[in-house]
Amino acid sequence: MSARPLTVLCVGDVFGEPGRRAIELLLPKLKKQHDVDLAVVNVENAAAGAGVTPSLARGFLEHGVDVMTSGNHIWDKKEIIEYIPKENLLLRPANYPPGTPGAGSIVVKAGPHKVAVLNLMGRVFLPTLDCPFRTADDEIARLRKDTPIIIVDAHCEATSESQAIGWYLDGRVSAVVGTHRHVQTADERLLPKGTAYITDLGMTGPVDSIIGVEPSIALQRFLTQMPHRFEPAKGPAALHGAVIRIDPETGQGLSIERVRVPAPA
Ligand SMILES: [Fe+2]
Repeated sequence: MSARPLTVLCVGDVFGEPGRRAIELLLPKLKKQHDVDLAVVNVENAAAGAGVTPSLARGFLEHGVDVMTSGNHIWDKKEIIEYIPKENLLLRPANYPPGTPGAGSIVVKAGPHKVAVLNLMGRVFLPTLDCPFRTADDEIARLRKDTPIIIVDAHCEATSESQAIGWYLDGRVSAVVGTHRHVQTADERLLPKGTAYITDLGMTGPVDSIIGVEPSIALQRFLTQMPHRFEPAKGPAALHGAVIRIDPETGQGLSIERVRVPAPA
């Protein structure tokens, strides 16, 4: 490899105000520290843990996020339906049915290189969208005409489905990073044909929480089986994600390193 590696920072689901604060305080520093060319951040829980608003999306772009991905919570704030066709840096899963507003992939510039970002959603324990595997085949065939550098956010509940997407796409994309579970997994690796993989990036949000939610509220739901209005937990926050280095000529992953950084109080 002659060219300098391309460095992508992928960040796990931003949850509520604590997560947004962690992005503001940490993302610019991390981009400098790791010499990051592109930051891809899952923002679907940014608005109090459910959805994202146009103003929050604009704020992320101002704070150094280059591409925003999402998942099953993308439509929770209704105003996003009008906004998403106008902001192509905010993706929704590509395997929503044809005619769904917005797009599931984008090609952006990162220095001299073009990078594609593709957002997919699993179907196990999640709404049954179109097949993520066949959607990926179609998207990748199209995106590879533009660039061999492809980053996939696979938004899944089942670890098996994340791993299946990783192995299915090995050698065809630069990285498959999982989101949605809000718990970082310790299985980052390069797959045999050169795709960087992690089952879940984790969550950017409140540390003392049940996947972002105030523990006393989430516990009431479990203990009573009655609906309770979820609220993001308060207190210290952290940013979870992974730094991925890629050969820009071939699009192959070179390394993947997990990131867990506490946010300043
Ligand atoms: Fe999700």
